[in-house]
Amino acid sequence: NDDKFKKVISHAKEYGYVFQSSEIYDGLSAVYDYAQNGAELKKNIRDYWWKAMVQMHDNIVGIDAAIFMHPTTWKASGHVDAFNDPLIDNKDSKKRYRADVLVEDHREKILQKINKDIAKAKKRFGDAFNENEFRSTNGNVLRRQKQIDEITTELTRVQEDNDLEGFRQLIIDLGIVCPVSGSKNWTDVKQFNLMFGTQLGASADNSTTVYLRPETAQGIFVNFLNVQKTGRMKIPFGIAQTGKAFRNEIVARQFIFRMREFEQMEMQFFIKPGTQKEWFAYWKDTRLKWHKSLGLGEENYRFHDHEKLAHYADAATDIEFNFPFGFKELEGIHSRTDFDLKQHEEFSGKKLQYFDHEDNESYTPYVLETSIGLDRMFLAVFSNALVEETLEDNSTRTVLKLPAVLAPTKAAILPLVRKDEALTTMAKDIVNDLKWEFNVAYDEKDAVGRRYRRQDANGTPFCITVDGESIENRTVTIRHRDTMEQKRVKIEELRDIIKKEVDI
Ligand code: GAP
Repeated sequence: NDDKFKKVISHAKEYGYVFQSSEIYDGLSAVYDYAQNGAELKKNIRDYWWKAMVQMHDNIVGIDAAIFMHPTTWKASGHVDAFNDPLIDNKDSKKRYRADVLVEDHREKILQKINKDIAKAKKRFGDAFNENEFRSTNGNVLRRQKQIDEITTELTRVQEDNDLEGFRQLIIDLGIVCPVSGSKNWTDVKQFNLMFGTQLGASADNSTTVYLRPETAQGIFVNFLNVQKTGRMKIPFGIAQTGKAFRNEIVARQFIFRMREFEQMEMQFFIKPGTQKEWFAYWKDTRLKWHKSLGLGEENYRFHDHEKLAHYADAATDIEFNFPFGFKELEGIHSRTDFDLKQHEEFSGKKLQYFDHEDNESYTPYVLETSIGLDRMFLAVFSNALVEETLEDNSTRTVLKLPAVLAPTKAAILPLVRKDEALTTMAKDIVNDLKWEFNVAYDEKDAVGRRYRRQDANGTPFCITVDGESIENRTVTIRHRDTMEQKRVKIEELRDIIKKEVDI
């Protein structure tokens, strides 16, 4: 699967989806640029989300708040005090690590050893192998499982108690070897705030430290009353937003899964206190349906309910997706109570209450949040789409089976022979006609078979070929990327055929 992940990254570059940021200067860590195809795919995912959340819900409206916010916002939200990662430096290699990630990686390694033992035994004993029995009797496996349990308990404890010295001791006791130098020479564990700060205002005396927002959600909370009043919104109602967020993450080699500059698609649903359980269930169900509607395979999703809750939540779950490196968080659904609005009331001194005409009472609404990373969704869609197929003649083809509604280019128009002006003119006419409706491409270079493969790898759902017969009776062949089936159709029918498959 490491292999698959490498292929995803190189395909994303080769076909103009994702580039390393500032590549000519050797890149900037955990920052990426979306290229000509990537920008289209990303926009299509954003539109697909926006349509489902805003357009299709009468009671959800969208806003676009600024990235900079008043600095007090982040005191109220808890980010100044509590948005931290525990970091530890290796004194010899001068490398910095996230302490919790080091421990979790170590746990993962032990788990892999157990799985290796099991696989070996399975091979040796064949049909007679009973995994449960092996797990409960094999000395090696039992010892390792005990180690894992101990690590889990201690990790939970140091995190809950915020015991930084305990963290360091855990790392030393586990004998975690620094991947670079093999050294065990660690510094103390320090809390590191993930927000990027910068100066607003020109002079040193009266400039203020502002933060690049680490989540888009706060732009919604502070606008709650403005939107409710001007939009005459009645509870329950939602406010949605997409936009950039910034976190000074300590990470290595996770491509666009964990970035320092990324995009979120968030929705805060304002509800009556006491109804949060129903709405939590509703949004879990609704968001999972949205994911499944894209056809990436139902088996690739699972919920991970949180046992340990953030200070603002009374229930939380992640929708996890099966990425090339395993199941990982794609979207979070959080029941945030009235924590955020109450905090902003306290810090701003302004009431953020709703008057419920039906019940004739005022209250601070509760909030149900759905929050998904656009870049992570991009990675989910892109990695799931990339497949290598062996064909009947034993040749292989690389296909990017993107859902047609998300594909950057919906159809490529190919004149069969480049030098035949009647064909190229007709193909260009089709391009000029269809481009009012969809993104289409014109491609005349190389043999038609190679052009098909190029478009397959690019994720284009349809190839339309203009040949001699086209001139005679105004028909073309239309080839489907996934089935490779070709059909002859009238030029006038093309628009409807494509529209049927690519419309949201
Ligand atoms: N407002 C709630 C919130 O921000 P979160 O779990 O911290 O919650 C929500 O983030 C989603 O944003 C995650 O599920 C993930 O998809 C995405 N996300 C968070 N940090 C990210 C990062 N560094 N790079 C890419 N996506 C990220």
